[in-house]
Formats: sequence, C-alpha cells, structure tokens
Amino acid sequence: MTTRWPTDPAPTGLQLSREELAAVRADFPLLARTVRDGRPLVYLDSGATAQKPSVVLDAEREFYERHNAAVHRGAHQLAEEATEAFEGARETVARFLGASPGEVVFTKNGTEGLNLLAYSFSNANAPGALDGVDARWADRLRLGPGDEVVVTEMEHHANLVPWQELCRRTGATLRWIGITDDGYLTDPAEAVGERTKVVAVTQVSNVLGTLNDLRPVIAAAQAVGALVVVDACQSAPHLDITDLTAAGSGVDALVFTGHKTLGPSGVGVLWARRALLEAMPPFLTGGSMIEIVRMEGSTWAPPPQKFEAGVPMAAQAVGLAAAVDYLMELGLDRVHAHDQALMRHTLQGLAQRPWVRVLGPADPADRVGAVSFTVDGVHPHDVGQVLDDDGVAVRTGHHCAWPLHRRLGVPATTRVSFGVYTTTEEIDVFLAALDKVRAVFGVTG
Ligand code: ALA
Repeated sequence: MTTRWPTDPAPTGLQLSREELAAVRADFPLLARTVRDGRPLVYLDSGATAQKPSVVLDAEREFYERHNAAVHRGAHQLAEEATEAFEGARETVARFLGASPGEVVFTKNGTEGLNLLAYSFSNANAPGALDGVDARWADRLRLGPGDEVVVTEMEHHANLVPWQELCRRTGATLRWIGITDDGYLTDPAEAVGERTKVVAVTQVSNVLGTLNDLRPVIAAAQAVGALVVVDACQSAPHLDITDLTAAGSGVDALVFTGHKTLGPSGVGVLWARRALLEAMPPFLTGGSMIEIVRMEGSTWAPPPQKFEAGVPMAAQAVGLAAAVDYLMELGLDRVHAHDQALMRHTLQGLAQRPWVRVLGPADPADRVGAVSFTVDGVHPHDVGQVLDDDGVAVRTGHHCAWPLHRRLGVPATTRVSFGVYTTTEEIDVFLAALDKVRAVFGVTG
C-alpha cells in the first residue's frame, strides 16, 4: 500500500447520482448506438480514446461554421475571431491545469508533447542553441555521455521511446525504476543518481491503473537537480491534476492528450514551467514560432508560440476547451469518485472469478481508470472477441507497454477502461459476457 498524491485521501461519498449519470450519458450521442446486431454498446475502452459530449462536437462545428481562419495571421475579422477562440481555449486549458496560459503549449497529442521535450533537450547540444540562456539552465538541458535519463518500467511507449532516442542521440544512459509484482513503483533511489538529468514518470499506468505516488520520485529527482516530467494522459480525464502544476510541486513539465480527455483527436497539451520553456530550444521550426527571420538565420518568439510552428489546430483546441470545461463543471473530485465506484465494482466482480488474474494493485483506491487481466487458458484476443460479440468494447494486446507486460510475465492482457459516462450496470454486462469466455473455448477447471 502506498501513499497517494495528489489525491490523498481518495474522494468518497461524492459519486454522481443515478440521475446525474443518466444526464451525463445523454450528453454523449455515440453511447446511444447499438453494435453487433442491435446490442447496446458497452464502451469500456476509454483509456484508448474517450467518447465526446455534444458540447465538444458543437464547439468544433461552431468554430468551422462561424469563425474558421488561420490564427495569428490575416488582417480580417475572421482571423481575429479565430485567434480569440484559440487563445481563449488556451486560457481554459490553463484553468484546468491551475497554470498560466503562457505555460500551455498545444501539441498534436501526448506523444508529441513528450517528443517535443526530448528533441528540445537534444537540440540543446547544437552550436548556439542556448545562446543567451543562463548557465544553470544550459547545464540542466545539455545531456551527454555519463548523464542519465530515468523512466519507469510501467511507461507507455510514448514516455519511453522518445527518451531512449534522446539517449541514443546524446550518448546519455537510460535507467529505470522497477515495479513490484503487484504493480507499484520500487524505490526511485535505485535508479536516480548524481548524473540523472531527467526523470520521466507516468502518474497513472495505462495498463495497471496504478495511481503512482509521485512524491518519492520527485524528491529523488530534486535531490540531484533533475527535471521531472509527468505523463498525465491517463490521469487528466479522471482527477484533478492541478497539484502537479502548483508552485513547489517539483514537477517541471507534464503532458496530456485531448482525445482521452473527452476532447477531439489531433490536439494535446504540454505544460511546463515558464523558465524551462524560455530556456528550451524549439522542436519544430517554421512559421508562427519566429521573432525575426533573415536568410542568414532566425530568432524565436517567446513561449508558448516558440513551440507552435505552423497553423495550429484551432478547432481542436476549442473542442478540447469545451471538454475540460465539461469536466470542470461536473467537478474533478466527483469524476474521480465516480471512477473509484466503478473501480471497486470491477475489482470485486473479477475477484469472484478465480480463473481471472488481475494485474496491478488490489486496493481500488490506488488505481484509476483501467483494469487489465488475463483469463486462464484463453488468449486475451479471444477474450476480446467474445466480449465484442456481446457489444462490450475492450482493448487487448500489450497496450503500448511491452516492457511492463514482459516484467509481469504475460505476453498480452485484456483491459477494461472507464469514462465519466461508464455505469456499474455496464460493468455487470461485461462480467456476464466474461463468464461465457471459457465455455466458448472449451476451457474447464
Ligand atoms: N495509449 C492508449 C491506450 O492505452 C492508446 O490504449
């Protein structure tokens, strides 16, 4: 059992009422459809991508119908309106994060945010890249042989491969914090050392659902002056993450993605402390991110524009703002409490089936959003197929976390993952469908 943060203690007693949940579901048009010969859809794949409420669809449509223009360009009214909508979206996202708009960079998705950081850090080694940056920051950003980047063994490939590549480009070494058999992080001191420059860790595992206690990881990183990067892709849809951006949290940067957070695809967010964004060299270059361009060379606009080359995804940003507004209106504590109720119900149901092995923490309070499991004698893909026959949509495979599966000794798992619109009745439909799996494949015992 670990101590959770920033959600200590896990909220209870705040669940959405039955009526409120029905109203939430009515906001998501896709949930009304049927699949597989008229069966009601039971969508338990929100960890892969969430469904979208009408307010998000309407916001995107309204942008295209009324205000569409290239933002930050053009001398006409539409360009002005589009720019206001885009910058307004940045302000809303900043409110969701408890941060200032100048620290919010729009990216394509979470993966791009992490690549932006990793590429920027390796660009820091280019001649002149850190001209004008103070020596302390320059030293933190430049990696070379002997330096180390630390990740964890439970990372999604998006928070692993970019750091492997950063190490390959700079000669630095990748190290990792391990995990226990029940899905918690091991002691970060085993991986973080004097030469650690970056520690990149997920707040919630997309496979195990583990809500990591980030405090020891941050403390270990701070003790050696390493930058702390948090992957919040699986936490942002379910809980208040403003503690991460608060002054003194020890977190330097985080990413989350729009499409898992009830928003559109094609938009994500990188948040980083202003001083870090100011010191970092750009990742993508071109229009919008420049200050002055001459044939001999160019200078950069201040952040966040420095990291937003090209015409940005304005409609998607507006849709994302509508999505996080929707979550803020429901109240992130209540959203988290609802997730906890689903988590308890799912773990209890699976525990009654001795032929199911659940990966990750047994205590629902230590988990968020997702439960992955195996069924004795049946391949996860086959489990997924039987569930799909009953209209239950889940993800199967290694969930872009291959090393984690290897560590736990399973080639693949079946994962159910929740959205704010998921009901305990849907979990019951899933459990009933799961009960058919072994009979379909003739597995007994
Ligand atoms: N990263 C997404 C997932 O975990 C796609 O399913």
